[in-house]
Amino acid sequence: MKKKGVFIAVEGIDGAGKTTQACMLVKKLRQMGYEAAYTTEPTYGRVGDLLRLHVSKQKPRAPLYEALLFAADRFEHVKREIQPKLRRGLVVVSDRYLYSSLAYQGAAGVSLPWLREVNFFAPKPDLTFYIDISPAKSLKRKAGKVGAYESLSYQKKVRKIYLDMAEEEGFTVLEGEKGAEELHRDMLSKVLKLLPKPRKGGG
Ligand SMILES: Nc1ncnc2c1ncn2[C@@H]1O[C@H](COP(=O)(O)OP(=O)(O)O)[C@@H](O)[C@H]1O
Ligand SMILES: [Mg+2]
Repeated sequence: MKKKGVFIAVEGIDGAGKTTQACMLVKKLRQMGYEAAYTTEPTYGRVGDLLRLHVSKQKPRAPLYEALLFAADRFEHVKREIQPKLRRGLVVVSDRYLYSSLAYQGAAGVSLPWLREVNFFAPKPDLTFYIDISPAKSLKRKAGKVGAYESLSYQKKVRKIYLDMAEEEGFTVLEGEKGAEELHRDMLSKVLKLLPKPRKGGG
């Protein structure tokens, strides 16, 4: 299979600004004449719906079960959405991806090598952004929105795994406390380095 598009993942703890930035990026790329698609995990497919229900209701958590559901959801995401769009040459921006599973289920005690193994089918993004904020900031930004992953100690563990992976895998780490516009400019400039000139106006 020949891949023509560019695959970008946006990662970070809750409230880091992933959705804000992924949407700004896609909007800007489209304005510039690129074909770009926003997508997110968990997906809005059947397994994704099940996951959201589970994550919001299930106490105590069942990390291994969640890891398998996230992997199944990702399998559908990759096969039905990401790969077909990349084959069509799109820039695909995923708001959370594989590394969310590694960080969150890893922080809940699931073995990282095993998590990698069950996600073996997931292609490596061409570019992964890790938007870094402190767990304290995360709680502040998400105040009022009750999430399953909100405890401070848990978010600290998640962030530690993300930062370790960022170093090992060469993620682009961004300071998430910067303003949204500044972050957007930083991300856009990295992305544009991977793209040919846009069709619109470029000829
Ligand atoms: N750079 C930023 N500076 C300050 N607040 C931000 C920034 N980016 C996003 N926010 C705000 O923080 C909250 C969480 O942002 P969001 O993009 O939903 O984060 P995530 O998708 O990573 O959970 C939102 O209320 C959003 O408006
Ligand atoms: Mg979000």
